[in-house]
Amino acid sequence: MTNKDSPVRLAKGVYWVGVIDWNIRDFHGYVIPKGTTYNAYLIVDEKIALVDTVKSHFAGEMIKQIQKIIDPSRIDYVISNHVEMDHSGSLPAIMRLIPDAKIIATKRGRDGLCNHYHGAGCQNWNFDIVETGSELNLGTRTLMFIETTMLHWPDSMHTFIKEDNILLSNDAFGQHIASSHRFNDEVGDIMEDAAEYYANILMPFGSQVLKYLDTVEELGIKIDMIAPCHGMIWRKDPYKVIAAYERWANAKTVPKVLIIYDTMWKSTERMAKEMVNGIIATGVDVKLLSLQKNDWSTIIKEVLEAPVIAVGSPTLNNGIYPSVAGFLTYLKGLRPKNKKAVAFGSFGWGGGAVKAVEKELAAAGFEVVEPGLQVKFIPDENALGSCREMGGRLAKMAELTKGK
Ligand code: FEO
Repeated sequence: MTNKDSPVRLAKGVYWVGVIDWNIRDFHGYVIPKGTTYNAYLIVDEKIALVDTVKSHFAGEMIKQIQKIIDPSRIDYVISNHVEMDHSGSLPAIMRLIPDAKIIATKRGRDGLCNHYHGAGCQNWNFDIVETGSELNLGTRTLMFIETTMLHWPDSMHTFIKEDNILLSNDAFGQHIASSHRFNDEVGDIMEDAAEYYANILMPFGSQVLKYLDTVEELGIKIDMIAPCHGMIWRKDPYKVIAAYERWANAKTVPKVLIIYDTMWKSTERMAKEMVNGIIATGVDVKLLSLQKNDWSTIIKEVLEAPVIAVGSPTLNNGIYPSVAGFLTYLKGLRPKNKKAVAFGSFGWGGGAVKAVEKELAAAGFEVVEPGLQVKFIPDENALGSCREMGGRLAKMAELTKGK
């Protein structure tokens, strides 16, 4: 039986030295019910490199993980793949232990770190700037760096351990899962978690993902393991998640319709449910997603592979219901591509929400395919029939995307 307090080893001399954040539930607006991990890695060769760090308040925990393997004062290099503070927050603490160590980063990485840690002595840190193809020899191992600009920050890069074929991919290929296990072959299928992570963090950057995948191909590297900075390490089938990234970046969809809504006095909900009935009658997949019952992050994961959505909002004070407005703002930031949409909702006297939702959907990049459906107060049988018919039309549109 493995001693669970032993260092977690990816390969000879390559260790996980991260921390598990069991109780985090909100990651700057992205709801993560399973918590997460901040994965840092230690490569022990003739020279020793620490790749990424963890949030600042976990610095002590990360240093203890390193101490299980070596005295941290022996670290020669700290590789900063990404400036965001969940990966750089403990850099000041580690640099206090190894002030002469070199920090390896992209140029934007160096600038970003110094924008963050000017109060922690960044001006005295010893940087080496790298770009795609730059290499660092540690003795028996060579690290190669791959810039991943806008995946998902300008500074981002990956580190590839050439002799072990291990890609240290920072945020890319991550999932927000806190677990006592470190490797994907030790747990069940995590592709849904990877999809939710992609949808909420990387969806705006599809063209950069494709460019990155081209670069990896041009470099001719073979990847045996992908070690991201959040969640499980892809020890089994790493190319499965690479293929999924290619599919998501190309905005590939499966025929299904999402009905996303909130409701004030149940009228918009009745409309939504009749649209669902109209879709069910066609045999096309549909999901009804109340904004009162579902986190935005969960809904966004569904949007990732849905070609058609309908967004329903009651009118409140001549505008969009606040929960729907908030969701549309979040959606707009993620810039989904290649999708169609309609709006619907009930109103009392002036109306306004449906037109405003259409405007937001268009601004988010959706093709608004037909005028929205509006109902005064409570939908009657005629109005409910119109909702069923609209559902049927949306189903046909979704069906036409099959295989695209
Ligand atoms: Fe996990 Fe962009 O930080």
